[in-house]
Amino acid sequence: MLNFSSVLTLLVLFFVSPNVSAIDKVFPGNAKDVDIIIKSSISDDEDTICKSLVQTQGYACEEHKVTAKDGYILSVQRIPVGRSGKTASKPPVLLQHGLLVDAAAWLLNTPDESLGFILADNGFDVWLANTRGTKYSRGHTSLSSNDSAYWEWSWDELVQYDLSALVQYVQYKTGQKLHYVGHSLGTLIALAAFSEQGKLINMFKSAALLSPIAHLNQIPSQLTKEAAQLHIAERVIYRQLHQFNSFLWFDKQELYSLGYRQFPPGWDVLGPILEKICNEPGTNCSELMTALTGPNCCINSSRAGELLKHEPQPTATKNIIHLSQSKLIRTGTIAMYDYGSEDENKEHYGQSDPPAYNMKNIPKELPLFLGYGGQDMLADANDVKALLNDLKDHDNGELVEVYSEEYAHADFVLGVNASKVVYDPMISFFDIHSS
Ligand SMILES: *[C@@H]1O[C@H](CO)[C@@H](O)[C@H](O)[C@H]1NC(C)=O
Ligand SMILES: *[C@@H]1O[C@H](CO)[C@@H](O)[C@H](O)[C@H]1NC(C)=O
Ligand SMILES: *[C@@H]1O[C@H](CO)[C@@H](O)[C@H](O)[C@H]1NC(C)=O
Ligand SMILES: *[C@@H]1O[C@H](CO)[C@@H](O)[C@H](O)[C@H]1NC(C)=O
Repeated sequence: MLNFSSVLTLLVLFFVSPNVSAIDKVFPGNAKDVDIIIKSSISDDEDTICKSLVQTQGYACEEHKVTAKDGYILSVQRIPVGRSGKTASKPPVLLQHGLLVDAAAWLLNTPDESLGFILADNGFDVWLANTRGTKYSRGHTSLSSNDSAYWEWSWDELVQYDLSALVQYVQYKTGQKLHYVGHSLGTLIALAAFSEQGKLINMFKSAALLSPIAHLNQIPSQLTKEAAQLHIAERVIYRQLHQFNSFLWFDKQELYSLGYRQFPPGWDVLGPILEKICNEPGTNCSELMTALTGPNCCINSSRAGELLKHEPQPTATKNIIHLSQSKLIRTGTIAMYDYGSEDENKEHYGQSDPPAYNMKNIPKELPLFLGYGGQDMLADANDVKALLNDLKDHDNGELVEVYSEEYAHADFVLGVNASKVVYDPMISFFDIHSS
C-alpha cells in the first residue's frame, strides 16, 4: 500500500502535470509557489448552494472553485451584496463550517437568523467555505472520491492546504485582508494555522471562533454517557452513524486498516436512509443531535427536515482518528497526526513524536473573538478555559469573549436567536477591526 507521504508526492506530481490544463492557473500576488488554481466554469444545470439556498432568498450569489495545492477542488460561495443591493463596503469575511456539515449550515435559518445573510446585510463581502469531501467539494485534479487515496487526510491537511488556498484566494479576489469565522473544527484549523505564525497570518484582520475546539479533554466521557441514554431507535442510527463509544474512540484504527477511508463508511447509502428514519413516528432525531452536540436550546425543530436535506456530510476516517488520538484527548496536547509508531512518525516528521501546535505561539496582537456555550459537549467550557489560559497574555482588548450559559454546540450556527447572543457582538468586533 502507498504510504501517506508518497500519496502526497503523487498528488504534487499530478498537480504540476499538464493534464490539469482545463483549469486556469492563477498566481496570487507574487506567490511563486502556486497555491491556487481556479476553475471558473459552472454549468447552468449544476445543483449548487447558491441556487438552492441563497438565490431563493433573493440574494446575489457567486459560485467559485478553488484548488488546493494537493489537488482538492473546493466549492466556495460568495454573497457580494446584501438585500439592500448596495455593494459590500466592508472587508471580506470567510466562514468555515465544522465537522460533518458544509456551508449550507450558515444559510438554513431565515435571512434574519442565518449568519451568512446577516453579514451580507451588514455590508460584509461574504465567502463560504466547503471542506474537502463534502458534497460540493468532491473534486480533485486526479483522484475520484471513490478512491481510498482521496480520503487520506486529516485536519493537518485542512490547515496546510484548504485554509491556505481559501484565504489566499479571497485575498487575491478582493485585494483585502479578511475576517474569519470558524465553527468547531473550523476553529481548530485556524488556531493551528495561527500557532504556526506562517505568512498566512498577515492576511487576517481578525478571527471569530465559535464553539472553539483546541483542547479536547472532556469529550469522550460525555458522548459515551449521552449515547447510553438514547432510545433504541436512535441508538441504532447513532451507532451506524458515528458509534462514538465503540467506533470513534476505540475501533476506528481497525476500520481504517480494513480500508474504510470515508467517515461514516457507506455514507452515500446512509444519508437518505437517515432522512427516512428521522421522519418515522417514534424516532426522535433531535435527541440524536443532542447526543452529538449537547442540549441545543434554540434550534427550531420544525426546520429539521431542511437540515437533513443538507447535513450531515462525510469526512475522512483519518480526520476522525486524528481528532480522537490519545494525546489530544488525554493530555490536551494539540499535535499533528500520530502515525502510531516512532518509526513511522520519523519517516513523516523526522522525529519520533508528531510535532505539536503550540497555542501559546498565536501572535498576541491578532484580534480574536471567542463565543462559547455552557451546554456545549464538543467545545466543553473547561476545554475552552484551557485555551483561554494559553491566550492569557494576549494583548489587552484584542481578545473578546462571549459566553452563553444556555448555548450548546449547534446553537452557534443554527440558534434562532444567535443573532442577538453572538452575531451582533461579533459584528461590532469586526467593525472595530475593519479599518
Ligand atoms: C463512485 O462509484 C459509484 C458506484 O459505482 C458511481 O455511481 C459514482 O458515479 C462514482 N463516483 C465518482 C465520483 O466517480
Ligand atoms: C424529542 O425529544 C425532545 C427532548 O427529549 C423533546 O423535547 C421533543 O418533544 C421530542 N420530540 C418528539 C417529536 O417526540
Ligand atoms: C420555526 O420555523 C417555522 C417554519 O420555518 C416557523 O413557522 C416558526 O415560526 C418558527 N418558530 C420559531 C419559534 O422561530
Ligand atoms: C435565546 O433563547 C433562549 C431560549 O429561548 C433564551 O433562554 C435566551 O434568553 C435567549 N437569548 C436572548 C439574548 O434573546
